[in-house]
Amino acid sequence: MNVTFGPGSKPLLGEVHVPGDKSMSHRAVLFSAMAEGTTELRGVLDSADVRATIAAVRDLGAHVELQPAGDGSLCGTVRGWGSSCPLPWSGTIDCGNSGTTARLLMGVLAGWPAEVTLVGDESLSRRPMRRVTEPLRAMGATYTLTEAGTLPAVVHGRASIKPAHYDSPVASAQVKTAVLLAGLRAQGRTGVTEPSLSRDHTERMLPIWGVPVEIDEATRSAAVDGPVVPVAPAEFVVPRDPSSAAFLTVAALLVPGSKVRLPGVSLNPTRIGFLRVIERMGSGLEVVPWPEAQYERAGSIIACTSHCLFGTTVTAEEVPSLIDEVPILALLATQVVGTTRFEDVGELRVKESDRLAAIIDGLTALGAEAHAEGDTLVVTGPTRLHGATLASLGDHRLAMTWAVAGLIASEPVIVEGFEAVEVSYPRFAEDLKSLVSE
Ligand code: S3P
Repeated sequence: MNVTFGPGSKPLLGEVHVPGDKSMSHRAVLFSAMAEGTTELRGVLDSADVRATIAAVRDLGAHVELQPAGDGSLCGTVRGWGSSCPLPWSGTIDCGNSGTTARLLMGVLAGWPAEVTLVGDESLSRRPMRRVTEPLRAMGATYTLTEAGTLPAVVHGRASIKPAHYDSPVASAQVKTAVLLAGLRAQGRTGVTEPSLSRDHTERMLPIWGVPVEIDEATRSAAVDGPVVPVAPAEFVVPRDPSSAAFLTVAALLVPGSKVRLPGVSLNPTRIGFLRVIERMGSGLEVVPWPEAQYERAGSIIACTSHCLFGTTVTAEEVPSLIDEVPILALLATQVVGTTRFEDVGELRVKESDRLAAIIDGLTALGAEAHAEGDTLVVTGPTRLHGATLASLGDHRLAMTWAVAGLIASEPVIVEGFEAVEVSYPRFAEDLKSLVSE
């Protein structure tokens, strides 16, 4: 589906409730599915990715009664398989476009004598899986992947899984989570150390499902003491997704005369690197935390049009806290004075598309100056963007980035394959439209 944005949007004014956080929604559904008993969930993201996780846990024996709440979220209950499932189970699970579904399931299934085939769409079938299967193999599960280390994967779980400590070479919350979830079935301590801290939702959320997690901030390590299966049922409200909020935040910064308020957004420090970068560029963003938020901080982001922003360096250390926001931050960087460098963003090559190449190609097509120096993305502004036809490449974050580009370009931007937004923010176009003042 082709959708045209712009040119020259009217000011964006008002309030939008962005959808529930994708990472936390996957985890809330999975942890509830592993529990003995019924969990109540609210604010679960209703999108293609999360539906893949819901369908997967249903196949594995969980009873999911999540209904649309009318605001783009799902609410209801999940009765988990507890100590009885997925035993014995053999079949095929379609993870769609969702790397989180595939990689987290590899960990969930590692300690069960199940034989499950995981498949995905074309994009997911290109993404590397050995980063997850290697540590899980060392714990005793076996995985058959393609020669390239991709899906389809056959997971051969093993009831006698061994505990392990994994020094991960990548800062990946999916790797960390898969290993910790496998550790819940092992006898003893299973831990993960990361080169820099990836999003820590698993560490914050598992205790809500009755699983203590030991954190060592100094070494960036997290550990669980197994066995802890089944986990306890819980009650959880998913905060709104900062990664989705980032698109409307940047749109408000760039469209003249705008002021946009985004309430209830997760302010988890491992997710809001983009806010710190925007502040460093010189914008007076207002962030109002909710004092009562537990486990996961949340609050409102208030963004107004900002003039006189300056380029900055995004260091390798801070990249995990904004990895999904690099496309929209790179677009912002085309509008600020000077050069913005995103160091060590090679991970972008293995996201839903080769995002590093796609960002450079797209920004260049819009008339901006962007190139890579090894794994560093370099963008120099300010540039008046012109119109272009840009493909989403089936990547939701690219689709939304090019849509925002259309709001400030001098001619329309046509986004091909705009339906990719279904993965994380199905109502993106409607929400954007609701902000355009008459
Ligand atoms: C995610 C972790 C990140 C992120 C992805 C969601 C998660 O991936 O890019 O969108 O929910 O754990 P990596 O773990 O590969 O860094």
